[in-house]
Amino acid sequence: MGARTPSPRPSPASGRGGLQRVLEPETLDHLAADDPAAQRSRRDLRRVNAFMGARGILERALARVLGHGADRPLRVLEIGCGDGRLMLGVAQHRGDRWPSVKLDLLDRQPIVDAATVAAYAAAGWQARPVVADVLDWAAAEDAAERWDVVVANLFLHHFQGESLRRVLGGCVARADALVACEPRRSRFAFAASHLIFFLGANAVTRRDGVLSVRAGFVGRELSDAWPGAAGGWRVDEYDDGLFTHCLCVSRVGAAS
Ligand SMILES: C[S@@+](CC[C@H](N)C(=O)[O-])C[C@H]1O[C@@H](n2cnc3c(N)ncnc32)[C@H](O)[C@@H]1O
Repeated sequence: MGARTPSPRPSPASGRGGLQRVLEPETLDHLAADDPAAQRSRRDLRRVNAFMGARGILERALARVLGHGADRPLRVLEIGCGDGRLMLGVAQHRGDRWPSVKLDLLDRQPIVDAATVAAYAAAGWQARPVVADVLDWAAAEDAAERWDVVVANLFLHHFQGESLRRVLGGCVARADALVACEPRRSRFAFAASHLIFFLGANAVTRRDGVLSVRAGFVGRELSDAWPGAAGGWRVDEYDDGLFTHCLCVSRVGAAS
């Protein structure tokens, strides 16, 4: 891509030696769903998620807010779901723990295909693709529809400031929990993001990988952006694995 990679700078927010958070548009977000480079990059993302241990990290995070089982069908919404394959892995691996989930897969691009929906059905989950901008979802006047948990993987780092608060505000208004697994903005992850070509990634994924880490989170940055009323929510923010930074929030008193 020939993209300039910004050199890391220390950030007061991330402590001594940390990297300043920098948000730049990612290439994949601006490619059409049927662009071959985008299709290839989405396949790369599956390998990146596998390399990062994303499914296990997500399952551990879900267990924090849902417990290790559910005695009723759950309503789950994944925002910025991409091709929907990451949660499919959760359904296939942990469908016994959380059976009969009704899963809404929201992305701005129409990329959840019929085969993926069928694979969810085979795993006992009912999946419904929703093509929408998450900011429209968050601002929806008709907030009658509610979810037990909203899931985000490699997604919240697309937002900052007011837009991040609006996405999180949508979760406060319409869900009992949020699980987010995001790039960790560490020097180690930043260095590793330059080695994504070892996973066979194309130019789009290689560029976006570096930008994602620069836009990632550390410390209590996500907790500090959470707009839910103090005392009304249990908020956990922590690192998991080598590259991932998680936020798990659940409404105090919500049935898990
Ligand atoms: C880095 S990809 C992550 C995809 C998936 N969560 C995964 O882990 O493979 C980010 C996704 O967010 C989607 N996206 C970006 N901005 C969005 C927005 N404002 N509303 C909805 N989806 C958006 C993109 O289309 C893309 O599929």
